Amino acid sequence: MSNNIFKNTESSYGLIAIIFHWLMAVAIFSLFGLGLYMVELTYYDAWYKGSLDLHKNIGMTLFVALMLRVFWRVVNVTPKNVDQSASKLEVKSAHYAHVALYALMAILMISGYLISTADGRAIDIFGLLSIPALPISINNQEDIAGNIHEILAWTLVLLSAGHALAALKHHFINKNNTLVRMLKVLPRK
Ligand code: HEM
Ligand code: HEM
Repeated sequence: MSNNIFKNTESSYGLIAIIFHWLMAVAIFSLFGLGLYMVELTYYDAWYKGSLDLHKNIGMTLFVALMLRVFWRVVNVTPKNVDQSASKLEVKSAHYAHVALYALMAILMISGYLISTADGRAIDIFGLLSIPALPISINNQEDIAGNIHEILAWTLVLLSAGHALAALKHHFINKNNTLVRMLKVLPRK
């Protein structure tokens, strides 16, 4: 099975993990930009409702993608660190940074869901799938979830920027294949 390009091996990422990683990274940065832009619009702007709907639809699609991605991570092997010179602390911090990125993605998407369903209305993902609101809601749910959403969106984007800088450091300074193996499927042994 180790020559299966879809799966991860002990030393490299497979196609599925690579596609999830990059599609979601691009979508998250786009939603961040769209989110900051759309909250400046007013009811009288032509794209007021459209931009919000697009943000919610892509966001909820990402939530489904995240669940599939985490499932895939659990049933698959996770490649081991490539940098032999890395200290224990570096290996540990990379691991916890990845866990934090997963957790931030999840809570960000859940807080978005809680803003959008605060009035009890379901979210229709591109008219294909309707996600109902929770049967209970709390006072000021929209504002509380909105504040959490804004703070977490910034935290996720800043942490992923640090994460990207770490990847670039591995590539240009340590000159190992940490970044390359997330960009293409390396030859299987
Ligand atoms: C990774 C995914 C997401 C990112 C990066 C993201 C990012 C953002 C950002 C930066 C804002 C502007 C915050 C502000 O300045 O007040 C925002 C607002 C918003 N987002 Fe998201 N979002 C994501 C997912 C979602 C999801 C899944 C939903 C709901 C289904 C959602 C619903 C909303 C709503 C309703 C607002 C407007 C909040 C307000 O009016 O204060 N977002 N988002
Ligand atoms: C919103 C943006 C991003 C998010 C949420 C994100 C998230 C993640 C997560 C969760 C992992 C761990 C994968 C696993 O479970 O094994 C990972 C790995 C990785 N990411 Fe990102 N990422 C983002 C953007 C980027 C960018 C812009 C770069 C490069 C410039 C990058 C480079 C990498 C590399 C090289 C790995 C593999 C690390 C290793 O082998 O230990 N990521 N990313």
